[in-house]
Amino acid sequence: MPELLEGPFSHSIMKRAQDKGLLDVQVHHLRKYGLGKHAQLDDYQYGGGAGMVMMVEPIANCIRDLQKERDYDEVIYLTPDGETLNQSISNELSLKNNLMMLCGHYKGVDQRVRDLFITREISIGDYVLSGGELAAAVLVDSIGRLIPGVLGDESSALTDTFQDDMLAPPVYTRPAEYEGHEVPDILLSGNFPKIDEWRYEQALQRTRARRPDLLEDE
Ligand code: 6GU
Repeated sequence: MPELLEGPFSHSIMKRAQDKGLLDVQVHHLRKYGLGKHAQLDDYQYGGGAGMVMMVEPIANCIRDLQKERDYDEVIYLTPDGETLNQSISNELSLKNNLMMLCGHYKGVDQRVRDLFITREISIGDYVLSGGELAAAVLVDSIGRLIPGVLGDESSALTDTFQDDMLAPPVYTRPAEYEGHEVPDILLSGNFPKIDEWRYEQALQRTRARRPDLLEDE
């Protein structure tokens, strides 16, 4: 359902990245490769069971057509049984030139698609979506923003939550006091070494409280 992908890439950072020529996102309609006069894409599963399965032929024809146009570093299938996306996978994928992403609907694609064409299977978390499109949008966004020049402030991707397996510290902007709630004095002090130290301590505390698992394997 390519329509699901129009919104996410047409705004804000993803739009700017494409306008600047730093990122090119092409959405292809599998329907174009559907079989017969109904352009069929899925069929009942062998062995019985609820839910349709996407057929190998249309997908194979589509992938092969795209592979004629360019070399792909990875052919990624978005699926809840894939490896769970994390920052390190996004970092790695942001260094590649061309990525193909296949979105299935939730009952999935014929296993032979996976065996024959897919180089990597990615899930965006332990919950089920009705199709891979929103997951692909998440993946493209997380990769796209790591491409040099895409973010306005070049350093900000590096200070993200998760970039060092730590959550980000609290941040504040004006006003310095809102209905009696004040910005911590240290941030107004101009003492930048102390501010860095404070931020690090806050990040550590937050990580210990909310995501102790991130600190474990260090
Ligand atoms: Cl990649 N696809 C679907 N259908 N559901 C998901 C997912 C992907 N990742 C988490 N849930």
